[in-house]
Amino acid sequence: MLSKQGLTVVLASRQLAAGEETAHDISAAEGGDVVVVELDVSDVESVSRCATELVSRGVRVDVLVNNAAVCLDGGVLDIDSAGVDTAVRTNLAGPFWLVRAFVPAMVRSGYGRVVNVSSGWGSFAGGLGGPVTYSITKAALNGLTVKLAQQVTGDIKVNAACPGWVRTRMVVLMLHGAWNKVQIRLFGWRPCPPTVHPAVFS
Ligand SMILES: NC(=O)c1ccc[n+]([C@@H]2O[C@H](COP(=O)([O-])OP(=O)(O)OC[C@H]3O[C@@H](n4cnc5c(N)ncnc54)[C@H](OP(=O)(O)O)[C@@H]3O)[C@@H](O)[C@H]2O)c1
Repeated sequence: MLSKQGLTVVLASRQLAAGEETAHDISAAEGGDVVVVELDVSDVESVSRCATELVSRGVRVDVLVNNAAVCLDGGVLDIDSAGVDTAVRTNLAGPFWLVRAFVPAMVRSGYGRVVNVSSGWGSFAGGLGGPVTYSITKAALNGLTVKLAQQVTGDIKVNAACPGWVRTRMVVLMLHGAWNKVQIRLFGWRPCPPTVHPAVFS
């Protein structure tokens, strides 16, 4: 969709071959430029290499979408420390580092958009549903969204978007968990259209 509107799309993936394949599909379907770069959001050095590579390729980032995330099983008392580390690095530190890598240039140019892909499970009002590291990192991502929105100047909008249930690999994997089976039995499977939570509009 973005590519169709004339934007150069940067597809940042930790799996270059898969990224190239998806870029090819996007170009074939919509035309336009799709630039593929390697990025592991959980690694601050990788974020920095990605930013440097984009500068060297002459790509200016006006819109940053923080989409990558992991949803790992486990509760406060039983998740292992590696799981906590991965979730915090991917779901919270990654967006934080990406914001620091790309938003200063947006501020200098006076224009930018940041979309943090969050979740209803990160909502205190919604009861912080789901696995513990997922819900608390998404709640913290909402916090990062609000803090960033308070601190930027110029025509820069910072939002968190909560897509609702979408049948992706993350969801399919989660369905193997007993908790999810119960939830789906109670509430049914509800693929629903994306919603943007107005509470975190800048
Ligand atoms: N699906 C839903 O119902 C739903 C609901 C609410 C919110 N969301 C949010 O929507 C976003 C997309 O989720 P999804 O459902 O599409 O999940 P998904 O199918 O599991 O996709 C997650 C993506 O994140 C990437 N990723 C994970 N760790 C990464 C890392 N360290 N560096 C770079 N990329 C990394 C994965 O890359 P690889 O392919 O390399 O593993 C994968 O492409 C997430 O923020 C999720 O929390 C989804």
